[in-house]
Amino acid sequence: MSTVHDALQALTDLTPGRQQILSDVVAGLSRTPRQLPSKYFYDARGSRLFEQITQTPEYYPTRTELALLKRVLPDIARSVGPRLHVVELGSGSGRKTALLLAALHDPVAYTPIEISRAALLSSIDHLAPALPEVEMLPVCADFTRPVAVPMPEREPARRLLFFPGSTLGNFEGEDAVALLRAMRQTMGRDGLALVGIDLHKDPALIEAAYNDAQGVTAAFTLNLLARLNREIGSDFDLDGFHHRACYSTARLRIETDLVSRWAQDMHLDGRTFHFAADEPIRVEYSHKYTDDSFEALLQHAGLQVTQRWNADSPAYGLRLLRACAVDQHHVIGAGIGAQLGEHLGFGVVVVVLDGDAGDLAERLGQRLGLVLVGGDRLGDDRDFLDALGLELSGGVDEPLHLGGLLLLAQRGGLELAVDPLLGGGLVGVGRL
Ligand code: AVI
Repeated sequence: MSTVHDALQALTDLTPGRQQILSDVVAGLSRTPRQLPSKYFYDARGSRLFEQITQTPEYYPTRTELALLKRVLPDIARSVGPRLHVVELGSGSGRKTALLLAALHDPVAYTPIEISRAALLSSIDHLAPALPEVEMLPVCADFTRPVAVPMPEREPARRLLFFPGSTLGNFEGEDAVALLRAMRQTMGRDGLALVGIDLHKDPALIEAAYNDAQGVTAAFTLNLLARLNREIGSDFDLDGFHHRACYSTARLRIETDLVSRWAQDMHLDGRTFHFAADEPIRVEYSHKYTDDSFEALLQHAGLQVTQRWNADSPAYGLRLLRACAVDQHHVIGAGIGAQLGEHLGFGVVVVVLDGDAGDLAERLGQRLGLVLVGGDRLGDDRDFLDALGLELSGGVDEPLHLGGLLLLAQRGGLELAVDPLLGGGLVGVGRL
């Protein structure tokens, strides 16, 4: 155990410093409408307040998930199989993790991924003595990016990513997709992920959970401003804002704001931010899902549900996920794209025939890792690729007016490998 401790002490603490927080806050408050990142809720007091939220009578997600997990753990253990390397995103309170590890058959190793070294230390301190057979391999990293997971001494059958607590719901749109895509990479080829999601239900019940009668959630939200005042020197008037959390049935999410009670100025780093009376700062989203909305989100990330377990009242879900063999969402155009994807056994393959760069860029945003482009109407300059934020891959340096031929382009960091099997016009393939 002391070895794990020593290794942990040597890890760099990646908790964001003053400069990072300052630039995020200035960027968020300069937007319309104004925003502050919810990840900054969790200083020491914020983390304690969150624990208190989970004890309030109104906040159902934590206790519902725990009861569901206890009920279905034998089934989960059967579904995921033996000799797992369990990788948890965030290190949480450890209670659910301990239950999971105890229920699994012969788990090989446990890796919490967490940006705060202090939180990693406490989760390992808590779990290691109770689970002497499980190798502890903590990693100090940002789990929203793909993480290089250490190899356990004993070879595991596969990785199981554990992401409970409906924390995924705190990520919006593109960020949620990027996180799921990072998870897919961290999981590895045969890996699985067990994810807790809060489900859509009576809006009154959801809203009550984020507006508890004791005011713990309000204190938690307002603590963000106190933290910023202390850590980056802003001068938010803590009495000048109030907490507001409303459920949007159109967007299936709680939208939490800090609302300015009156017209006021806040000063930060030589800048003045003016808030009108009733002006909101958006501080958090908590998405709730239906099966359809969750599966649509997964599809963008090349993941699919293999098993689902639900609590009925209040509705809450655990989902077992695995990677799709081919990321169908990204296969555009018939025939060759799908065949190519299947042949390669990985996703993010797009074949654009007669494509229009602007339209494609808009539809796909920044999600692509790899693109095959071709067709008669591509034009002969590189604006097409620029519009998609892509570069031609190494070794391919032809003008683009190739009439029906296909060229391969990629975002930075992908490796190009020429595959002779593809033949006919195709110049190469890349792997994520
Ligand atoms: C951590 N996360 C899943 C909580 C949620 O439900 O969105 C954070 C929270 N915010 C207010 N109450 C709880």
